[in-house]
Amino acid sequence: MKKTFASITAVGSYLPKNVLNNYDLEKMVDTNDQWILARTGIKERRILDKGIGTSFMAINAANQIINKNNINPLDVDMVIVATVTPDMHVSATAAHVATQIGAINAFGYDLQAACSGFLYGMSVASSYIESGRYKKIILIGADKMSSIVDYSDRNTCIIFGDGAAAVLFEPNEEGLGMQDEFLRSDGIGRQFLKIEAGGSVMPPSIETVQSKKHFLFQDGKSVFKYAVSNMSEASYQIMQRNNLSNEDINYLVPHQANKRIIDATANRMGIKNSKVLMNIEKYGNTTAATIPLILSDYENQFKKGDNIIFAAFGGGFTWGASFLKWAYNS
Ligand code: UT7
Repeated sequence: MKKTFASITAVGSYLPKNVLNNYDLEKMVDTNDQWILARTGIKERRILDKGIGTSFMAINAANQIINKNNINPLDVDMVIVATVTPDMHVSATAAHVATQIGAINAFGYDLQAACSGFLYGMSVASSYIESGRYKKIILIGADKMSSIVDYSDRNTCIIFGDGAAAVLFEPNEEGLGMQDEFLRSDGIGRQFLKIEAGGSVMPPSIETVQSKKHFLFQDGKSVFKYAVSNMSEASYQIMQRNNLSNEDINYLVPHQANKRIIDATANRMGIKNSKVLMNIEKYGNTTAATIPLILSDYENQFKKGDNIIFAAFGGGFTWGASFLKWAYNS
């Protein structure tokens, strides 16, 4: 029997209109445009209005796929939302999104693996498709980071932004789609990147609010070191395992946390700058949304059969790389 592959067959995205640039941040914390650009590669990010949740962006991104590819939402089997900023802790944002896009025959749940959420989601979605159990899965990476960022903390507020993007996974019999993955996690990361309060260890209280423990905390320097070594190594591993030379790779689609982490990864892989896809300058780090936002921005450039390496590193720690053959010409 022929092996069924899981391929990406459509991409959609949504970005809020409000722009927060480096000059705006200069007025909020002790920082400057030159430092942010040199240390991260970021110029500006998008910010979603207060009172609107992550699902708003996820719904818009998923609807773009449905409209663009003329998908009947009744045929969608599953909706996964990778996010660290669900609308609510309970219930699943994905269930709400599925209903709002008319996917009433689908089931859905959220996947929390921080900046690796979309990469892990690709693993989940493709495994379901390869098994033959489901035929149409919408995987969304969506985060409203502005809802958990402390805009008086220059360690975090310069990096993060809001956004969402989605892909459709479908079966492919031509060998196109997901080929391999190398995924890892290490609980040591919990001390370096976390939201300490609001969970079962430290439920919300007046004290946790007053001590700002519901905001994202990051020891940037430590996270940076782990990110550089692990994202580079995972990307290198996926090349080795699949006998891919730097010439064989058409594009690297890396998580957009810091341009210097991306450069280190590309360097380890020995690939040219022109193959390294970035949009960090425009959107910053949108956590689970960075990878699909790259797919959305560069979709027109991809050709059927292109070899694409995905790589991510994030809170937990969680990280990995995967290898996908692109399935269509736009
Ligand atoms: O998405 C996955 C999770 N996150 C990441 O992957 C992010 C990983 N970390 C990073 O991207 C970087 O560590 C940051 C961008 C957060 C910080 O950059 P860095 O090069 O690691 O800066 P640093 O913390 O080592 O600080 C270097 C200097 C310090 O000054 P001194 O001590 O050398 O005088 C800081 O006080 O830069 C100073 N600094 C700043 N200056 C202006 C730190 N933050 C800022 C700032 N603006 N925002």
